[in-house]
Amino acid sequence: MFPRASEPRDCSRSRSAKRGAGIANTRAHLNVERCALNSLPWTLSELNVFFIMRRAIYPGSFDPVTNGHLDVIERARKLFDEVIVAVAHNDEKQALFSLQERLDLLQETAAKIDNVRITQFDGLLVEFAAAQKATAVIRGLRAVSDFEFEFQMALMNRKLEASVETIFLMPKEEYTYLSSRIIKEIARLGGDVSSFVPPVVGKALGRRFAR
Ligand code: PNS
Repeated sequence: MFPRASEPRDCSRSRSAKRGAGIANTRAHLNVERCALNSLPWTLSELNVFFIMRRAIYPGSFDPVTNGHLDVIERARKLFDEVIVAVAHNDEKQALFSLQERLDLLQETAAKIDNVRITQFDGLLVEFAAAQKATAVIRGLRAVSDFEFEFQMALMNRKLEASVETIFLMPKEEYTYLSSRIIKEIARLGGDVSSFVPPVVGKALGRRFAR
């Protein structure tokens, strides 16, 4: 879908503004560029958002979201204009939390980060990424043990869809030993997980494993 057309711009003002200094000069420069595009009914920023936005998908099971996931999302946000956190629908793993619960926990945590969107997907990840006009898939890499599976998945995804690049991001060192699986096990056995997950996730785990 194309962006909505804006009101036509007044180009005459841009010439006088160009004589100014500093910010005024920059504004004038932008106006001149806008004038060059004046035959088009969209502003530069509208065109930028629509065509040049750098968007990445961060896919996973998120069963549940951990501080390690949030750390990766924060890092990805510095590299991309928008990060779509996508919860896999057809994951073969037996999840502790339902798809809706996992989405809700992400809404209450990750969605609070600017320009982060939460959604679900089913089918092939690369098809979903292409449909979202994302240029990259983000995966967190914690240790060498992650590497073999991640490497295989990245290469297979590239074979399936060459336009989508996989980017590995390392979470903060203190999160390298974190995984949703270990956190669920600690919570199930009554251990304290408060420093590994956001409070809302800690509460959800507490309710799930209430003795
Ligand atoms: O958090 P996880 O469980 O490590 O995430 C794995 C996930 C969901 C990213 C992966 O299983 C996936 O991409 N599933 C979608 C189906 C798909 O595209 N499979 C081919 C991968 S090569």
